[in-house]
Parts: sequence; structure tokens; C-alpha cells
Amino acid sequence: MKSTRTWVGMTVLALPLIAGTIDLNDLFDYQGQEAPTYITQDNTPANNHISNAGATLGRVLFYDKKLSINNTVACASCHQQEFAFSDPSIQSKGFDGGVTGRHSMRLVNGRYSEESAFFWDERASVLEFQTVMPIQDHIEMGFSGTNGQPSIDSLINKLNATDYYPKLVEEAFWGTELSEDRIAYALAQFVRSIQSFDSKFDEGLAQAGNINANFSNFTAQENQGKNLFIAPPPAGAGCQGCHRAPAFDIDPDAQNNGVITVAGDTGTDLTNTKSPSLRDVVNPDGDPNGPFMHDGSLTTLEEVIEHYNLIVFDANENPNLDQRLRGPTNTGQNLNLSDDQKAALVAFLKTLTGEAIYTAAQWSDPFDAQGNLSVLPLGRVDIAGSMEVQAFPNPCSDQLTLNLPAGNYAVSFRAVDGRLIRSMQQNGGQQVFWVNGLPAGLFLIDVLDQNTGQHKVIKVFKH
Ligand code: HEC
Ligand code: HEC
Repeated sequence: MKSTRTWVGMTVLALPLIAGTIDLNDLFDYQGQEAPTYITQDNTPANNHISNAGATLGRVLFYDKKLSINNTVACASCHQQEFAFSDPSIQSKGFDGGVTGRHSMRLVNGRYSEESAFFWDERASVLEFQTVMPIQDHIEMGFSGTNGQPSIDSLINKLNATDYYPKLVEEAFWGTELSEDRIAYALAQFVRSIQSFDSKFDEGLAQAGNINANFSNFTAQENQGKNLFIAPPPAGAGCQGCHRAPAFDIDPDAQNNGVITVAGDTGTDLTNTKSPSLRDVVNPDGDPNGPFMHDGSLTTLEEVIEHYNLIVFDANENPNLDQRLRGPTNTGQNLNLSDDQKAALVAFLKTLTGEAIYTAAQWSDPFDAQGNLSVLPLGRVDIAGSMEVQAFPNPCSDQLTLNLPAGNYAVSFRAVDGRLIRSMQQNGGQQVFWVNGLPAGLFLIDVLDQNTGQHKVIKVFKH
């Protein structure tokens, strides 16, 4: 969250309220976001940590309709913030009015999921591979390179020719040009940044310290629902067997859950074994962020509970039904839930909803109503005059050498958003700095000549 600033007797909330502007001097703090201590999974790969500039680039890509061949569809068209980054339509419309074969998934806490693969059928092994697939999908965004459609190279040329991408790329990576990898990495950083841990459940767990204890902030009905969610049948509903707390996505070994129809078509689809996290299945008003399941066939949580209450197992029709849902006699699960128990389960699921995710500015549309965006460059201007400072090697990895003329200097290392990382006093000459403790990416070295007041700012890239 942004800080409050005081300007001559007036307190101003420094939110980037000017629609359509990104100020590189004042980026959102994506890299400093934290998860609660009871969240132990994190699928961030070593080579793609979230940086403020990287996630900002990802945010712009996510909302940019230029990512479709006729500039009509963005990721955000099918993943809308007000619906926890899902789409209320069963099937989403692509750039040419064609519809997706499955329902769009909520994008909540993807970074912290137990299942590290993406899509209902888990066909993308990591998020970095997933993010460019919609762009290259012939229905969704259309840069497939087949059947007369342009390839992703023409998208890259289109984006590099804009006014804003070179400036954003320069802060997130080295150089000013986008590439397929950079699009994938930046989008993955943004998607991983979308997190929701301000729910009633989180408050209760933080207080109780243990999922099995009664939560003092829960109603009796919500605690009853929690117990039913956790306990395996016949005592409980066994949801925890697959959608394990506190991430609530899915056991990576789960098979399908008996929902096997195809959206908008006949036939069956037995391949759907992933669920997005059950966090934010409803919005803060309790309205479903559905429809639910890969085929969008269930509209309410009550219908979801009815589905699990009675599942018929027919090995000919659905040989891939998960073992846990086959019941003690292998004829299917019959939970025999009472109306009270069903209502309690629904009440519990509603405690998994947060608030910030629906409105927080760092995940919102950065473009103005006309689809324009301007990027304000870094304000730390180089007023070096004739100060001769060299930094090498650049890019660097472990060590960086600064060559300073004779004199006294204050040298500060800053992140691209201006945050101070380290500062020190230096005399002239060659100075070697260990930089292996810094995160990969761009940083700035600000050299202040303490005799003349002149600054020299050098951008350095670290691998
Ligand atoms: C035309 C609608 C549409 C567009 C545009 C779209 N998506 Fe999706 N998205 C979907 C659908 C539908 C699914 C589920 C598809 C499936 O499983 O087969 C999905 C799934 C995902 C998932 C998997 C989530 C999970 O938990 O497994 C991610 C991540 C995602 N989309 C990100 C993006 C990004 C990033 C973009 C932009 C580059 C994008 N989407 C563009 C409709 C869309
Ligand atoms: C055997 C593993 C398993 C168990 C047990 C299980 N589920 Fe699921 N659940 C899944 C799978 C797999 C999906 C995705 C299925 C699909 O879309 O085809 C899913 C999807 C869902 C969805 C829809 C998510 C969305 O975004 O559309 C909800 C809600 C849900 N489950 C709730 C529950 C509840 C409540 C229980 C306990 C009564 C439960 N599940 C038990 C495996 C399981």
C-alpha cells in the first residue's frame, strides 16, 4: 500500500489515481507482499522472483487489449477483478466472438497452490509456460501463427512499437525490447502477485493457531461447517481430502470429481483434475464467483454441495473418478448430509473470502477509458556535469567495481522504484562491492559528490 504524504499543510493520499498513468518513481510494492506464516508452499521459480517493475509490466500486459490480434480482448476480459479474476459467463468470448471450451478460472493465490500445474486439466506445468498460451490460442487472443493468423512475433513487434512498453521493459529487464520469454515472465509475476489472505478464515486461523480448533471469530454454524469440511466421510464431507487448508486448491494427485460434461457441447471430459483455490468462491457480499467447475455447470455453492452429497460411480462412464469419491462399497459417495449440515458447509466456504483482491489498485486496470497509458520516467536525473564514474562489469553478478575520481562521495544503491538498499561513504579510486545479496534485476547507483553536490546515477543490471 502507498504511504501518505504531506505537502505544505495538506495531507494527500498518494494513490496513483490519475487513470492511465504509471509513475516509475512510485511503483506498487509487489515484491514486499507477504503471506501468512502458515502458508508454506510457494511455486515462484528461482529465476523469476517478483520485482515491482516486473509485476508492473505484467499488470500492463494483463490489461492490454493489444495482446489480441484485433485489439479487443485482454487477459482481464476473461479474468475480471470484480469476480476474483474469473468470468461470470460459462464460456468466455475470444477476440472473434468464438467461445472457450472451458470456464475461466479465478486467479487467486496461484503462487501458493499445492498443485503447481495450471489449467483445469493441468496441461501447463508452470505458470511461465501457461501465460503465453492464451495469446497463442486461436480462439482466445489469436496469435497462433496457423490458419492465416499472425504469430507471436508480430505481437512482439506491435508491443515494442508502443510508447509505453520500452520504458516499462527497461526497468523490469535489461534493454528495452520485449520477447516471448519476457512477456511470459512478467505476466507470471503479476499473476503470482494476486493474493488474498484477509478473510475471516485467516483471522480465525491466526488466532487459533490450528485449523482443528474452534475459531473464536466464527459462528457455531461456521465452525460446524469447518469440521464437516475437514473430517472424512462418514463423519464429515471429506473436502479437506482434496482442497486442503490453508491453500484450499487441490491435492496434486486428485483425479476427477465426477463433473464430466463439456461446456456447450455433448460428450464427456474426464481430464479435469485441478481446481483453483476455494478461496474467494463467493464475493464479499456472498454472491458466487462462479459458475463453478470446468464446465460452469453448477451455479451456486448449494448445487456444489448437492453434487458431492451424492455421486454415482459407474466405471464404464467415468473410470477416472477419484478413489476418495467412490464410497465404501465402490458404488459412489453418499454423504447423506442433512439440510443443516449443507448450510453449515456453505457458511464455512463463505469465510474463505477476502476483500482487498476485488478493488486493490495494484491489480486494477492501469489504462484510461480510451485505452491509453503514459509512463512517467524515473525522476532521478543525471546532473553529473563532468563527473567521470564507471561501473563494471555491467551486467554484473557477484561483484561490481566503481571507479570514482578523487574526492568524497556518498554512494547509495537503490531499487528502480527509489527504495534505498544500501548506502556508504567512499573516497575516490576503485571500489569493489559485493552485490550477490541483491535480488536479480535492475538497480540504481547514485553517486553524490559531497564537495560539489553533483549526482551521477548509473543503472546496473544484476543477473
Ligand atoms: C478468452 C478468454 C480468456 C483469455 C483472453 C485469457 N484467459 Fe486465462 N483462462 C481462460 C479459461 C477458459 C481458462 C481455463 C482453461 C482450461 O483449463 O482449459 C483459463 C485459465 C487460466 C489460468 C490457469 C489458472 C489455474 O489455476 O490453473 C491462468 C493462470 C490464466 N488463465 C491466465 C491468463 C493470462 C495471463 C491471460 C492473458 C495472456 C489469459 N489468461 C487470457 C480464459 C481466458
Ligand atoms: C477427490 C478430490 C475432491 C474432493 C474430496 C472434493 N473436491 Fe471439490 N473439486 C475437485 C476437483 C478435481 C475439482 C475441479 C473439477 C472440475 O471442474 O471438473 C473440484 C472443484 C470444486 C469446486 C469448484 C471450484 C471452481 O472454481 O469452480 C468447489 C466449489 C468444490 N470443488 C468444493 C468442494 C467441497 C465443498 C467438497 C467437499 C464436500 C469437495 N469439493 C470435495 C476435487 C475434489
